[in-house]
Amino acid sequence: MTQDIKLLLVVAVALVDQDNRILLAQRPEGKQLAGLWEFPGGKLEPNERPEQALIRELKEELGIDVKEDCLAPLTFASFAYEEFHLLMPLYICRRWEGFVQSREGQALKWVKPLDLRQYPMPPADEPLIPPLIDLLNI
Ligand code: C5P
Repeated sequence: MTQDIKLLLVVAVALVDQDNRILLAQRPEGKQLAGLWEFPGGKLEPNERPEQALIRELKEELGIDVKEDCLAPLTFASFAYEEFHLLMPLYICRRWEGFVQSREGQALKWVKPLDLRQYPMPPADEPLIPPLIDLLNI
């Protein structure tokens, strides 16, 4: 017997500052997985490409402007939640315009790669940490 699988596409980014720290955002109260720390991003709207969705989310959530050619694909998460299967490309971005600010009341933290594990994350996000450490601990 086959089972319907709902595939959910969410895009996320590791914003990296000049000290090689990565931005984490805390999921606000009232959302699923509230209190957990995640890489910024979100769901695609209808007729949006992944990069467009990420650029929109970064403007809405953090008030920064990102150009599409500053988004480099790094890795992805593939995680079976009970209600859906999450597919989440993670981009890396070192260049943006404007100052990162919390536009939606979410807590933000710049975190060194080796400290990322100290922040409880949604289970889908945890496997994204090792590729980031590999890339940034040069
Ligand atoms: O952020 P949003 O609630 O729209 O994301 C939809 C779902 O995708 C979340 O409820 C969560 O299960 C999953 N998600 C995740 N890691 C993220 C973003 C979303 O596991 N960084």
